[in-house]
Amino acid sequence: MSQTLNVALIGQKFMGRVHSNAYLNAGRFFNLPIQPVMHTIAGLDLISLAPFADRWGWANYSTNWKEIVKDPALDLIDVSTPNYMHAEQAVAALSAGKHVACEKPLAGTLKDARMMRNAAARAKKCRTFVWFNYRRCPAVALAYKLISGGRLGKLYHVRARYLQDWAGPDHPLTWRFQKKYAGTGAHGDLNSHMIDLARFLTGDEISEVSGALGENFISEREVIEPRPKTGGARRGANRRKKPKQGKSDVDDAMMFLCRFSKGAIGSFEASRLASGHANDNSIEISGEHGAIRFSFEEMNRLFFYDHTESRDTAGWREVMCTSAGNHPYAGAWWPDGHVIGYENTFVNMVADMMAIIAGDDPIVPMPDFADAYETQRVLEAASLAAKSRSAVKLTEVK
Ligand SMILES: NC(=O)c1ccc[n+]([C@@H]2O[C@H](COP(=O)([O-])OP(=O)(O)OC[C@H]3O[C@@H](n4cnc5c(N)ncnc54)[C@H](O)[C@@H]3O)[C@@H](O)[C@H]2O)c1
Repeated sequence: MSQTLNVALIGQKFMGRVHSNAYLNAGRFFNLPIQPVMHTIAGLDLISLAPFADRWGWANYSTNWKEIVKDPALDLIDVSTPNYMHAEQAVAALSAGKHVACEKPLAGTLKDARMMRNAAARAKKCRTFVWFNYRRCPAVALAYKLISGGRLGKLYHVRARYLQDWAGPDHPLTWRFQKKYAGTGAHGDLNSHMIDLARFLTGDEISEVSGALGENFISEREVIEPRPKTGGARRGANRRKKPKQGKSDVDDAMMFLCRFSKGAIGSFEASRLASGHANDNSIEISGEHGAIRFSFEEMNRLFFYDHTESRDTAGWREVMCTSAGNHPYAGAWWPDGHVIGYENTFVNMVADMMAIIAGDDPIVPMPDFADAYETQRVLEAASLAAKSRSAVKLTEVK
């Protein structure tokens, strides 16, 4: 019988569901050294918490995260709230001696992220994890193994983009469009994933950012009126009145160029208004001996080009990354060719978190707060570069 670890999850909407599914299923697919126990779900909306707990298998529920993070029964606190809450909740949990798994970006601001990195460094017995889940697509993990094993040789190019199209003018003013809650818009939300992937896959650090350009295309959005009795939210409370508008003060799209410390150059693009791209995060890395290409909407495949082959037969290979003996994480899932999806990357991450807490190695490296702080510095450098319209060296961003 393996050890157990009591988990509390703060946040019960999108990531609340995704993480609940991951804790529920990790022990069913992986032989875990430590079994996560779904102890408490915490959120704001009391009315929906009980059915949520019932549906997803949480033993308890609460609207008071401050009590939860101090509860001696709990071992791991999972912070899946809007970005502005990450620092306060994660630091409180670390101060109470808990392991913390926090959603990305690490924080809305570099100042908050620094506070979290420092708190993690002080809490020596606690492990920290950041949900950059795309590292744990088998195809991305395979790319990591190829690149770190030298298969591409010296790296020349990183081309990364994360394009979505859900945020048109009819989309209301949620927390994601307000600087005070989100920090930035598409940049922190989407570029954070791609910066993490680029740093992870290349094993290199970005040393300078230039050519940064952000745009806020839709500066006013409909305000969601609070629902009077439940404290929840309702859109267009009175349809006969002109809906109240509020200011959206974050970028809808953000691009930048960069240099890596070992010589490669990179380009990044994030948008929530790229019509025709629902959740298209793609990365291509070119080196002297070959290249890899990954696109999330075809997440089971890695595209690999072997530049050492003769030109007469050389070409991009589509590798289906579902082979139990050959591909990272694949052995936990289905027979070869029976593809997996978005939610599996989070289950893979819970399995690796449990391994790390048990003192074992994860299948591929896991970002902790110190690592995610480096990603946050790059986000900040790009924001500064966009503002100043000039290049920013990472040494200038502490
Ligand atoms: N890894 C990924 O692929 C991915 C995808 C989407 C979102 N995220 C990240 O996850 C985080 C949450 O995003 P989401 O899409 O789940 O947002 P959401 O708006 O769907 O849910 C946020 C949840 O936080 C709760 N909450 C807010 N303030 C709270 C408080 N003070 N106490 C307790 N609960 C509180 C809300 O009630 C809600 O349940 C963000 O940091 C976001 O960037 C990551």
